[in-house]
Amino acid sequence: MKLLITGGSGQLALALDRRFSRANSGHTVVRLSRAELDISSRSDCQRIANEIRPDVVLNCAAYTAVDRAESDADAAFAINAAGAGFIAEAARSVNARMVHFSTDYVFDGTSERPYVETDTCAPLGVYGASKLAGETAVFEADPSAVVLRLSWVYSNDGANFYKTMLRLGSERPELRVVADQQGIPNFTGELADAVATLVAANSEKHKQQRGLYHLSAAGVTNWHAFASEIVARAKLKQPPAVTAIATRDFPTPAKRPAMSALNSARFAEAFAWQPPNWISGLDRCLAERGTSA
Ligand SMILES: NC(=O)c1ccc[n+]([C@@H]2O[C@H](COP(=O)([O-])OP(=O)(O)OC[C@H]3O[C@@H](n4cnc5c(N)ncnc54)[C@H](OP(=O)(O)O)[C@@H]3O)[C@@H](O)[C@H]2O)c1
Repeated sequence: MKLLITGGSGQLALALDRRFSRANSGHTVVRLSRAELDISSRSDCQRIANEIRPDVVLNCAAYTAVDRAESDADAAFAINAAGAGFIAEAARSVNARMVHFSTDYVFDGTSERPYVETDTCAPLGVYGASKLAGETAVFEADPSAVVLRLSWVYSNDGANFYKTMLRLGSERPELRVVADQQGIPNFTGELADAVATLVAANSEKHKQQRGLYHLSAAGVTNWHAFASEIVARAKLKQPPAVTAIATRDFPTPAKRPAMSALNSARFAEAFAWQPPNWISGLDRCLAERGTSA
């Protein structure tokens, strides 16, 4: 199978490439960076689709700077909404299966249990609103698309909370981390395994498997507890103290949901997949870095 991965320099794209490029996988991966394919260009999306003729498109391209998006809404919507629609349209035109990634930040965080796909969306910021508009654009362009909502993604690539905690944790005696935002951290390697399950799924069932899914590990936590586990399991030489603070003590331009855990039961049922506990993803990520407990 030939897979086209957009947003190719991002952390999820890199993990998907590693997963699908494994020896004897039988897949050919074409991973294109933003410089090679800017998804906000409708004509470029179509040209690349015509040239590559993929069987599957994995759209990892996104404007992911949550705080910057508050003052840069046009760019966020051009990529996360319009661009997502353009790449879905191009995928459909060459009969490729479209897989798009969305976010837990489509929710306002008032739920008392992990969110399911049918829960009402009410994004608190521009990023979430642009991603929600992207889901609509993708389904309008390609009703057979699969949209996977993810949460709290981290890896040893790029910039993310896990890497920031490891860096600051080796520089500072104390880390102050918010404890009143709940969610589920997800290692890109585990997400890539789940996407591989989806891609391998019987194509005759493809039509029933289209639609919106939450894809996440299990086990709700908060940023402070996540940071504490990172520091403990990384076995830093001089581990910092990890102090719990409140969101109001760490003001950011974008408001974040107080609870954004995702319930993956629908994905698990459709693709015969078992959500791992988020701690196993952290151990795996640290092991890949070479310092796991
Ligand atoms: N990270 C999270 O915690 C999280 C949580 C929930 C959902 N998600 C979703 O998961 C997906 C993957 O996220 P990620 O964590 O891998 O993000 P990431 O590391 O920021 O990667 C996104 C990539 O998209 C590229 N990009 C930006 N604009 C583009 C454009 N117009 N055309 C083509 N590429 C473009 C970026 O390139 P430049 O760096 O060169 O701009 C970057 O390499 C996204 O859809 C995101 O919304 C992420």
